[in-house]
Amino acid sequence: MCGIFGIVKKEEDNLGAILIGAAERLTYRGYDSVGMATISNGKIDLRKDVGKVDSVAEKYNVGEMRGQRGITQLRWATFGAPSQINAQPHLDSDGDMVGAHNGNVVNNIELRQQFIAEGLNVRSENDGESCVHAVERYIKKGYEIIDAMRLAYGDLKGDYAFVLAPANDDKLYALKKGSGLVVGIGEDFTCLSSDLPSLLPLTREILRPQDGEIIILGHNSVELRAITDGTVIERDPEIVTETMDSVQKGGYPHFMLKEIHEQPQVARELHNLLDDSPDIDEVIEKMRNARNLYLVACGTSYHASLAGSVSFAQLAGRATIPVLAPQFMPQYAPTVTHDDVGIFVSQSGETKDVLNALAAAEAKGMTPYGIANVIGSTLTQFTNSCLPLGCGYEISVPATKTFTNQVYNFIYLAYKMAGKDTAELKVVPELMEKTLEMVAPSVADLASTLDDVQDMYTLGYGATLPIALEGALKLKEITYAHCEGMLSTEFKHGPLSAVTENYPIIFVAGPNDIPLIISGINEVTARGARAIVIGPDDERLRANANELIVIPDAPEEISALLAVLPLQLLSYHMSVARGYDPDFPRNLSKTLTVD
Ligand code: M6R
Repeated sequence: MCGIFGIVKKEEDNLGAILIGAAERLTYRGYDSVGMATISNGKIDLRKDVGKVDSVAEKYNVGEMRGQRGITQLRWATFGAPSQINAQPHLDSDGDMVGAHNGNVVNNIELRQQFIAEGLNVRSENDGESCVHAVERYIKKGYEIIDAMRLAYGDLKGDYAFVLAPANDDKLYALKKGSGLVVGIGEDFTCLSSDLPSLLPLTREILRPQDGEIIILGHNSVELRAITDGTVIERDPEIVTETMDSVQKGGYPHFMLKEIHEQPQVARELHNLLDDSPDIDEVIEKMRNARNLYLVACGTSYHASLAGSVSFAQLAGRATIPVLAPQFMPQYAPTVTHDDVGIFVSQSGETKDVLNALAAAEAKGMTPYGIANVIGSTLTQFTNSCLPLGCGYEISVPATKTFTNQVYNFIYLAYKMAGKDTAELKVVPELMEKTLEMVAPSVADLASTLDDVQDMYTLGYGATLPIALEGALKLKEITYAHCEGMLSTEFKHGPLSAVTENYPIIFVAGPNDIPLIISGINEVTARGARAIVIGPDDERLRANANELIVIPDAPEEISALLAVLPLQLLSYHMSVARGYDPDFPRNLSKTLTVD
């Protein structure tokens, strides 16, 4: 969701290509508009519009833009519709300062009214523009830019990071408050970005500003100042050794397919990480003794939490309360006590809904733990300890490898809680490899028969219910068809009326629930539905279903984990067949940092 990048060079240079490259690397976050600004000899050149990076760059000849400093921003609309005027960066009233932000200024509407009343030239509805005016209003009153930023910080409510370039200056000024911002240091240049991957092709020398810090970038200097009193903060840069391979497609046509195939390997790595984790025993102990144990998350991470809840119950006899993060506040926060424990689960570690629930839980004295993929994310900083997912970068908007590692993480914890030997789980990555191999041809064939389908169901029971829900989310997310996930036994309580001849229904069958799933299959096939089953190689399933996608035999929780792989692949193939880009589905963002 939104991303900013800025660069300061020693002398004027061809910045257009650098800004396009940085913008391309930020696209995985999701966006609807893009803009670039360069500053050359006190003049700002601003080009921006709705659309993809390449088309906006081509339309506005961004490649020819030159300057000593440059900013690019990718916008995912929250305040103000996607439009050229709302696209970022934004100018101040007189057009002699330009800036852009990432995040959400929650009092944007009030601030805009104040700026208009003060006579500032407010052109858009966008909260990025408010960041620029919030600083401008104090500069106009005679403050130096650093003091103006400190005062603006008091006015701008919400979580954000922004960067500013005054025209008659040679530096960039940025502020971090709740949104990601990383600084890169190169030879004769410095840069900053909303995330690390977009900096890596430019430099390996990195500095990580913290919330409440102002960053001043010169071409060969980086200064950090405390927002509170403006004092200089000393922090050493670090050298990042990660390769860029992990953020490239590695020969696959899409990141999603690459990430699907990375699942066995990242599961292996996660197992080792958990074996070595110094925090596991404390987390297990607290979970075991908790009065109530909540699993709090959104989207795919919520489905993993549902799977975790089944694993804790079945493997360790421990009841948990899985809850969608925003619903935690009205439904559970009022009842929380110091004896409760919460596991907050998020790939990005930045999902605002989850962070809001975390804040509400902590206010009531709950002990919070986390499970997150992005190390250094807000969730990892504000939980007592945060267990890893170890997936590396997940670029594709649809979560795949982070889902399976979340589920794996929960199974591992449930094993530990039950006193079972976690070494037994070491077979799982191999089973995942086998599954991918076994299902690939049948899933590709199945996808080709579902080209025109705009409506379907995925049904599961017990450990496979969360998998059915996750499969439905994947299908909706990237095929744009409607697909509803549901408990198989609920289907007869209403949705059965939707069934017509050849209506596709995917059942996810666990090894212990085959007779129940068969009842469900017969209820729908008797009315003409096409029952597609994902499950173990079982004669009863073969005899009753129209099609069976066979996965390897495995115990219940592991079988469920394997069953998500064909659903991920099916969504992927259907999306590609429909001419969509599964990595960047329309309207969606990888990291949802807004309420
Ligand atoms: O980063 P998070 O795990 O907190 O994100 C939560 C959801 O936004 C996310 O899982 C979303 O549902 C996925 N894009 C689905 O593939």
